[in-house]
Parts: sequence; structure tokens; C-alpha cells
Amino acid sequence: MEEQMRLQKYIAQAGVASRRAAEQMIADGRVKVNGTIVTEMGVKVSPGDMVEVDGVRLSSAEKKYYIMLNKPVGFVTTVADDRERHTVMELVSDINARLVPVGRLDYGTEGLLFLSNDGDFTYRMTHPSHRIDKVYHALISGRLNRRELDKLCNGVEIDGRRTAPATAKILEAGANSQLVELTIHEGRNRQVRRMFAAVGHKVQHLRRVSVGGVTLGHLPLGKWRHLTEREIALLQK
Ligand code: URA
Repeated sequence: MEEQMRLQKYIAQAGVASRRAAEQMIADGRVKVNGTIVTEMGVKVSPGDMVEVDGVRLSSAEKKYYIMLNKPVGFVTTVADDRERHTVMELVSDINARLVPVGRLDYGTEGLLFLSNDGDFTYRMTHPSHRIDKVYHALISGRLNRRELDKLCNGVEIDGRRTAPATAKILEAGANSQLVELTIHEGRNRQVRRMFAAVGHKVQHLRRVSVGGVTLGHLPLGKWRHLTEREIALLQK
């Protein structure tokens, strides 16, 4: 650990929350340093200090994990599901850390999902202002015509709000289906399916293949691996 660190950074690095959420926890009087509640920002802590959140002692020395999973269909992207469905956490149970999914893939979507115990990383990767490119391969029913393709790229209306510019490329065309690569940087609920629906096509199968320039490659379905230093650096940029 660095010699001294701001309290909110320490909490974020312990995997408890993003830096911003940590600031709120401090403001709310939930954080103690060496037994005393601290509510002002900017307090620095040293390696020997004892930091508690809601009475639970943190260890900022916790190793940071950055993992990619090839999520199969039929798993929910949550830490626990109240309907007793399978969760993505079951697929990474051999890692002994408080991992959380970075963003979300629908139950019926497969592909690239990051998991981490670094709260700042999770926050940065999922905040809309960071405009991280996400690439999807969608097998759709029917074939997009020129006008529909343009509409998809220029923006369609979802929940009364236009989607940001996207890029789309036809990868394969069957008699009555197409495989389309769609790149978006927003992360609205069921966005890809709803974008295709808005131009009259149903998504039959959806896979995320890349996020922020890091690609799934040949990782088998249901398997995970650690990100490389290079991949982490690319995402931290
Ligand atoms: N868009 C969707 O429709 N579903 C996902 O899981 C991700 C993006």
C-alpha cells in the first residue's frame, strides 16, 4: 500500500464501494478511523490505521482481481438471485475475493463479462460518461435494409430517448437471418435487443465479444480467466 492514502480511496480499494459511494458513506457517518467516526473528506490514512465501515474492519491490502468470464445463457448477472436462478458468481466460485460483476448481461445473453473486487474500476467501467465501446454479435431474424441499418447507427428511440450513434456491420447473411456486429457505448437496459426491435427485427441470439478493446477471444463458454496486465492497463486508460 502507498504510504498515505485518502480515506475514500482506501475504502474503494478494499472493494467495498466506488470512490464516490465511499464519500457518501463517510458523509453519512458510517466510517471510523481508529475507532473515531470521520465525516470530513480528505482525511489520510496510513497502512497501520484501522478503518471500519458499518463496524466491519477493512483490509486495503486485499489483492485486486480483474477477471473476464464467458457468460452462458441461463445465468443472471447478480451476486444473489431472489428467484433461485443460477448466478454468474457460481462460475467464478474458485476465486476467494468479494467479486462483483462489472455491468450486466441479460439472462438470455452470452459473452464477455468482467468481474472485479476493485470498486473504482467497476465504477469507471460502468459510468455512462466514460463511453466505453461494447461490441455485440446479434443473430437477427430477417435482413436489415439500408434504411434500417442507417437508423440503427444514427439512433433509434428507446423509452422516449434516442440512442447515441452506433456502428453496425453485417458479418453474415442467411436466407432469412443476419449476423450483425453492433458497437455501442451506452449501457441501457436490454439496449441491443430493443434497438433491433425498433427497426423491426428480433434478436434470436446475442453475444458480447468485446468491451473497451478487450476481446473474449477463444475463452470457452462458462470459463473465466484473469485479465492480463496489458488488458487492465487498456481498460484503466
Ligand atoms: N443489450 C441487450 O439487449 N442485452 C444485453 O445483455 C446486453 C446488451
